[in-house]
Amino acid sequence: AQQQTALVAEITTLLEARQAVLVAHYYTDPVIQALAEATGGFVGDSLEMARFGRDQPADTLIVAGVRFMGETAKILSPHKQILMPTLGAECSLDLGCPADQFSAFCDANPDHVVVVYANTSAAVKARADWVVTSSIALEVVEHLDSLGQKIIWAPDRHLGDYIEKKTGAQMLRWQGHCIVHDEFKARALDELKTQHPDAAVLVHPESPAAVIALADAVGSTSQLIKAAKALPQRKLIVATDRGIFYKMQQACPDKEMVAAPTGGEGATCRSCAHCPWMAMNGLMSVKAALTEPAAHHEIEVAEPLRLRALIPLERMLHFAA
Ligand code: 13P
Ligand code: SF4
Repeated sequence: AQQQTALVAEITTLLEARQAVLVAHYYTDPVIQALAEATGGFVGDSLEMARFGRDQPADTLIVAGVRFMGETAKILSPHKQILMPTLGAECSLDLGCPADQFSAFCDANPDHVVVVYANTSAAVKARADWVVTSSIALEVVEHLDSLGQKIIWAPDRHLGDYIEKKTGAQMLRWQGHCIVHDEFKARALDELKTQHPDAAVLVHPESPAAVIALADAVGSTSQLIKAAKALPQRKLIVATDRGIFYKMQQACPDKEMVAAPTGGEGATCRSCAHCPWMAMNGLMSVKAALTEPAAHHEIEVAEPLRLRALIPLERMLHFAA
């Protein structure tokens, strides 16, 4: 604990000296989220992180999250230096949607408007007409469907399925998945609900359809925290990465939170849902981003690609405004 306190103090000084700002996702370690808050940085969902990064006057942003979040920051703020604690922090949705294969899929369906989830590479965004995050995907697809547009959706199959059910839109869907949310198990969740009949169930829409079907609230990380506060139940069963408990508990200190079950047969694993790439954002790696040569930590996006990817990203930000 003493070592951690010293490290936090050291990073705080480094952030000040560099006039850098720490932007963290809700799935990062609570110590990173607390550090972002304590140093004038920010904690949020992927849409809010993008907005904060864009509107932030600091010249250097440390993005504690996964690579697509760093890339989004760079696309929106080309003149800022975007550093990540580790450039190895990937996302299974991004990895499961290679730009060349995705581009061929789009080419084969040229009469479709292309909507991609923010959890994709800059190259995939560059092939899209729209970028969406989980907090705004429903509204954007509803809008496009009302215009009679045919839609390609990528890469998350569960979010795509949820959007289709909610909007009635029929989309050509890429079959990617999030390795964390895909692990939530409906039968075990149903049993947990029976054990806690007074609990409300909160689910991120990257989870399987049968899990979403048991939810009282479905939404992005920020939307789930809002729902946790707004719902009358004092007990909450939460199906998303366990990193969210830090801010959720802060938002409603008087409520009890229970992690939804994950794992194989029996699904007995609780509090196990944690993204291995988000977990790479620790105090040591944040310090490394501020002390090691920038080349080991800096996000670069080639200018032609950036300009192309900026179009669907700005479309989302204008739509969300
Ligand atoms: P949010 O947009 O809800 O923050 O989700 C990002 C993410 O990676 C979820 O797994
Ligand atoms: Fe990607 Fe899932 Fe990790 Fe989010 S939790 S960054 S969607 S792998």
